[in-house]
Amino acid sequence: MKTLSDQAVGTAHGKIILIGEHAVVYNEPAIAMPFLATPVEVIIEKIDGDSVISSSYYQGFFKNVPSSLKNIYTLTETICADLNQSADGMSISISSLIPPERGMGSSAAVATALVRALFSYFKKSLDQTSLLNYVDISEKIAHGNPSGLDARVTSSESPVYFKKNSRFTSIPLHVSGYLIAADTGMKGQTKKAVEDVAQQMKQSYKQTRQLITKIGLLTEEAKTAIEENHTVHLGELMTLSHDCLKQLNVSNEALDHLVDTALKQKALGAKLTGGGRGGCMIALAKTAKQAKRIAHKLMENGAVETWIHALGEDFND
Ligand code: MEV
Repeated sequence: MKTLSDQAVGTAHGKIILIGEHAVVYNEPAIAMPFLATPVEVIIEKIDGDSVISSSYYQGFFKNVPSSLKNIYTLTETICADLNQSADGMSISISSLIPPERGMGSSAAVATALVRALFSYFKKSLDQTSLLNYVDISEKIAHGNPSGLDARVTSSESPVYFKKNSRFTSIPLHVSGYLIAADTGMKGQTKKAVEDVAQQMKQSYKQTRQLITKIGLLTEEAKTAIEENHTVHLGELMTLSHDCLKQLNVSNEALDHLVDTALKQKALGAKLTGGGRGGCMIALAKTAKQAKRIAHKLMENGAVETWIHALGEDFND
C-alpha cells in the first residue's frame, strides 16, 4: 500500500505575454514566454489535525482562507475529493517571487505548483491535460473567463503560440533582442478588464470585434517576425497592439506613460502585458546597452521594478 509523503514540493514560474492578450479570450492567437526569473514553490507537509496554509496573503487554518484564496481552497478540495483523500492533515506553504496581480500569471503559477505538490504528496501521477484542467478550475474563480494561456505558459519551459481550445505549440525564439519588463507597482485588474471587454463586445460588437481581430493579425505577423528574426518589425507590431489594447480600454495612465517613456528612449516597441489596468509593460530593445538605458528611464518614470531578458537565450538573466 502506498503511504502519503511526509513532504512534497511543486514548482512553476511566471509568464510574460509578448502579444495577443485579451484577443486570446476570443479565439485569436497569443504568444507568451515563461518568466523563469519569478519562480513559485508550494511545499506540503504532513501534520496532525486541520490543514493550515501559509502565504503572503494569509496564514492560518485552511478552512478560514480569505476570498482572495478561494481558488486555491476550491482547487485543493476538488483534487482531494477526486483522489479520494482527506483535505485535512496538511500544512501548505506557498512562496512566490511573482509580483501578484501584475499580469504575470501569478494565480495560474501558484495553482500549477499546488496541483503538482498535491499529486506528489498523494503519490499520484499527473499528466499535462489533468494539470491544465485543474488549473483551469482555479483560474475560472480567479479570472472569470480565462483563455487557459496562463496555465499553459506557467507550466512550460519554452515560448508558446497559443489559441484557445487548440493545441498550443512551442516556438523557437530566433529573434535577437532584449525584452525589458517593468512593473507599474499597481495591481492589474485582469478579471475586471476581461469582463469589461466582454461587456464592450455586447454593447459595440463591430468596433470591439475589429480591434480583437486586428490584435490577432498582429500576433500572426509577430510569429513570422520571430521566426524570421525581424526584431524591428516585432517591435512595431508590439506598439500597434498596445494602441489596440488602449482602444479596448484595458490600459491606464501609468502603463501609457511607461510605454511612451520606452518609445522616447528608442525602444523598438512597447506595450502593456497581461490583463492591463495596472500591472506590467514590456519594451523591446536591440542591444543590451539600450535595454539597460530604457530600464533605467522606466525606473525614473515610475516603474517599481524592471527585468531584462535576452531573447533567444536563457530567460533567467
Ligand atoms: C491575462 O494574463 C491574459 C488575458 O488575455 C486573459 C486570459 O487570457 O485569460 C487578459
